[in-house]
Amino acid sequence: SKLKTIIQGIPKAELHLHLEGSFEPELMFEIAKRNNINLPYDSIESVKEAYRFNNLQEFLDIYYAGAQVLLHEQDFFDLTWAYLTKVHSENVKHAEVFFDPQTHTERGVAFDVVINGIHRALEKGKNELNISYKLIMSYLRHLTEDAAFNTLESSIPFKEIIDGVGLDSSEMGNPPSKFKKVFKASAEHGYKLVAHAGEEGPAEYIWEALDILNVERIDHGNRCLTNEALIKRLVNEKIALTLCPTSNVALKVIQKMDEHPVAKMLDKGILATIHSDDPAYFGGYMNENYYQTAKALNLSLEQIEQLAINAFEASWLSKASKERHI
Ligand code: HPA
Ligand code: ZN
Repeated sequence: SKLKTIIQGIPKAELHLHLEGSFEPELMFEIAKRNNINLPYDSIESVKEAYRFNNLQEFLDIYYAGAQVLLHEQDFFDLTWAYLTKVHSENVKHAEVFFDPQTHTERGVAFDVVINGIHRALEKGKNELNISYKLIMSYLRHLTEDAAFNTLESSIPFKEIIDGVGLDSSEMGNPPSKFKKVFKASAEHGYKLVAHAGEEGPAEYIWEALDILNVERIDHGNRCLTNEALIKRLVNEKIALTLCPTSNVALKVIQKMDEHPVAKMLDKGILATIHSDDPAYFGGYMNENYYQTAKALNLSLEQIEQLAINAFEASWLSKASKERHI
């Protein structure tokens, strides 16, 4: 369609993507086989059958299970490289990607195995696909703050290749304030700060991420529209919300795409952006997220372009690099 062609043609920046969430079933089977691990599925079709979720936790259980087959540096390389080649075909020029070290270190895979595989693929993507990148280490919020401190410590030898820290996993009952000290320590090591907030959790968690963790972007943030003072803050301080529309439908954060808050956010002047979160699980990379949103909300060409510009604006690229893309 014409809309798809337009979206394909727009240079895009991805700011909310979990590498473990880009693990396609085909690659999962291939890596499971070579690592002699049995998957609880007998076919690609049965995997896809299992990908029906009623909430964030049902997704997370399956996402962590899938990641268990990743053991060696080559596995992390292959995962990351598959993502980069995919989005290269979608005209993505810049990617700021999350990885969850604790999902791997908790089961005995060393931090350096994980990051070396990811980093080697990101460098190859920069050199061969012309995709610039930033790397964000996410703390798992269902674990303790002490566990996050251990992860921070493990990351220090690699701090030149890690640009920021994030906060993901089970939101309800694990407010940002639980990670106040480790975010402060992370900033002191030079890391930039972001956090998932207001996906399933209330607007209060978005306030906490801003006031207590001092993050510069909010991942998701859907729930901000319930709070006028928060909207003002986001607009005045140009705090980006990295929205993930197909994720929101898949996890029933919204019931249908036409309920997505992104158009209202743009109207209010919020620096809203669109991304893919966990595309292998939710069935849509960048273009599909733009397409489904634009179609359901009847976005104008100007609004679609604004979303793409907002993402470069909210990225951690230098001013000169941003200007080259916008
Ligand atoms: N929310 C919280 N944690 C996550 C997500 C998400 O959308 N994706 C991967 N980990
Ligand atoms: Zn996410």
